[in-house]
Amino acid sequence: MELTFNAPPQRLGILLSGRGSNFLAIAGAIREGRLGGVEIAVVISNVAEAPGLAVARELGLPHEVFVSKGRKRAEHDADVLACLRAHRVDLVCLAGYMRLLTPEFIAAFPNRILNIHPSLLPAFPGLDAQQQAFDYGVQVAGCTVHLVDEHLDHGVIVLQRVIPVLETDDAHSLAERILAEEHVAYAEGIARVASGEYQVQGRRFVKRNASGR
Ligand code: GAR
Repeated sequence: MELTFNAPPQRLGILLSGRGSNFLAIAGAIREGRLGGVEIAVVISNVAEAPGLAVARELGLPHEVFVSKGRKRAEHDADVLACLRAHRVDLVCLAGYMRLLTPEFIAAFPNRILNIHPSLLPAFPGLDAQQQAFDYGVQVAGCTVHLVDEHLDHGVIVLQRVIPVLETDDAHSLAERILAEEHVAYAEGIARVASGEYQVQGRRFVKRNASGR
């Protein structure tokens, strides 16, 4: 599939379940003027006590909770979708959103959902990616910003950042250093998508040439 970003997305919907440090990094990049006209339209959490939600409140950003526990996935996702539409979101950013999305949700935002994962995909998808990488004995690690498709941690790669695994590392220190890279990578990935200068060609996320093709 070839897809160009002719109308670059500008209004972000952030979905999170926890700490929200990636969300905060995105908000910081916007505040510092590193993301052009991009703005956060709404922050949505599926967990009422998520610290990231409190951050959104402190920043004065629109925020909503749709508790997912005990609800049917399709019904929960439909509520989240309606909220994103109400806030006229055109790019969804998963920022530590620990839920699989329904195919209907993904189809509603084709190539317009970004995720960040703390490994160099396709290595170590799923939970505890940093621990998986450490246990495997890799010598380089990192993070991946990718478009979301219907498979877990699988969509087209927008960008990756790589760090060496140090002899002094344990899984915790490795995760901390990967997180610092995530905070740079996510804003950069959003900037690429929002620039309108890239297109999806098969599995590749490539810069359009000077003629705009
Ligand atoms: C981040 O490390 C992110 O890469 C990871 O959850 C953490 C959320 O931290 N996401 C995944 O593992 C998704 N598969 P944050 O709430 O501080 O941004």
